[in-house]
Amino acid sequence: MNIAVVGTGYVGLVTGTCFAEMGNHVICVDIDKNKVESMRNSIIPIYEPHLDILFERNIKQGRLQFTTDLAEAVAKSNIIFLALPTPPGEDGSADLSYVLGVAKQLGHLMTEYKLIINKSTVPVGTAEKVDAAVREHAKVEFDVISNPEFLREGFAVDDFMKPDRVVIGTKSEKAKKLMSDLYAPFVRQGNPIYFMDERSAELTKYAANAFLATKITFMNEIANLCEQVGANVDSIRIGIGSDSRIGKRFLFAGIGYGGSCFPKDVQALFKTAGEYKYDFKVLDAVMSVNDKQKTIIVDKLRKYFKGNLKGKKIALWGLAFKPDTDDIREAPALYIIDELLKDGASIQAFDPEAMENVKKILGNKIVYSTDSYQAVTGADALIIATEWSLFRTPDFDIMSAVMKNKVIFDGRNLYDPVRLKELGFHYNSMGREEIVQG
Ligand SMILES: NC(=O)c1ccc[n+]([C@@H]2O[C@H](COP(=O)([O-])OP(=O)(O)OC[C@H]3O[C@@H](n4cnc5c(N)ncnc54)[C@H](O)[C@@H]3O)[C@@H](O)[C@H]2O)c1
Repeated sequence: MNIAVVGTGYVGLVTGTCFAEMGNHVICVDIDKNKVESMRNSIIPIYEPHLDILFERNIKQGRLQFTTDLAEAVAKSNIIFLALPTPPGEDGSADLSYVLGVAKQLGHLMTEYKLIINKSTVPVGTAEKVDAAVREHAKVEFDVISNPEFLREGFAVDDFMKPDRVVIGTKSEKAKKLMSDLYAPFVRQGNPIYFMDERSAELTKYAANAFLATKITFMNEIANLCEQVGANVDSIRIGIGSDSRIGKRFLFAGIGYGGSCFPKDVQALFKTAGEYKYDFKVLDAVMSVNDKQKTIIVDKLRKYFKGNLKGKKIALWGLAFKPDTDDIREAPALYIIDELLKDGASIQAFDPEAMENVKKILGNKIVYSTDSYQAVTGADALIIATEWSLFRTPDFDIMSAVMKNKVIFDGRNLYDPVRLKELGFHYNSMGREEIVQG
């Protein structure tokens, strides 16, 4: 099939590349000229494990092209995916200007039937809005359908190639047939393609993200309570996770959810509910707990240093909102940095992939280290904000030798407190006993 993917970010580029890998011809459109230029030169603009091999192979074999020209992409394709940003608008609801802006142009450009598929995360009723925007200028038949994306950054290729499920919102039989054919190679092991109406498909995506954000937040509150009552959140996680109604995943306590999806999607769903005069109380609580959780570790650090962080050298491991990505959108680390700088601390950070992106925002407000040990050299304390694998088994002897104080505030519960006690560290983690030396 001939496919256009409009918007070549984390979702669009993975979508385009994976469809090309299955033998389709894909043309990716982006308004960012530099991005398109570098992709034409086989330079991949994001860090996403395993994407590079597929990206290079499909460019080489002529199935994956890039352009800034929407008209060219529309002319060359019968299926058009919209993978455009839907950032929060000023009031927190999803900003649909990117999606509707492209939809308006499509009407002018189409000369034969097109299937227009919305892959962006969009509020209930957007398919109807896109349909109306295209229809304003369209002279040919078309369908607008919803196909929300559930991939996770860091596992995006695997998630796309072997989705747990594919959700498709449409009433059009023609669209159903095309989508079944398109996705057939991805669900050969029998994973389902669920067809439903457009509104339900749109809401399914928000419900999934809001549920996961709620699960994380619930565990974070349990962790906070553990610290008050002297219980261990890891034991509780194991104790409840073995109940199949609860499940083992998404139960790890930490410093709050971040990223480009959960924060904006929870907020947008809350706004949608409000527009329909429904007060979605749980989501309100999730947002306010998470806001606090993102900097709770700084409050703990303040307490440790008796309220005075001025002049303290703080090492920070991890900047990305989660491991295996360079994405820093809404990363808890950025909120932590903000608080530390406000208090007059200096920061030596290290992240394997996300430092360039942070540099673009913060410039030289913090020091960027070449590795994790340089970051902790001379540090009064270390904060761990992202659970990159390489932070899991550091050389504690080197750390003991180079740190000014052997103090770790671990926002991701990477280490065994008993071991850290033996090694002579002051160790504060989430929802577990604080290790105090001496
Ligand atoms: N990132 C994720 O993990 C993820 C997962 C599932 C769903 N989503 C949803 O998918 C959508 C896209 O997310 P993303 O993370 O890929 O965004 P992104 O910001 O990484 O990428 C969006 C791309 O669209 C381009 N763009 C903007 N306006 C354009 C236009 N008029 N024409 C062509 N290109 C244009 C931008 O230059 C950018 O390259 C969002 O709605 C998001 O909520 C994201």
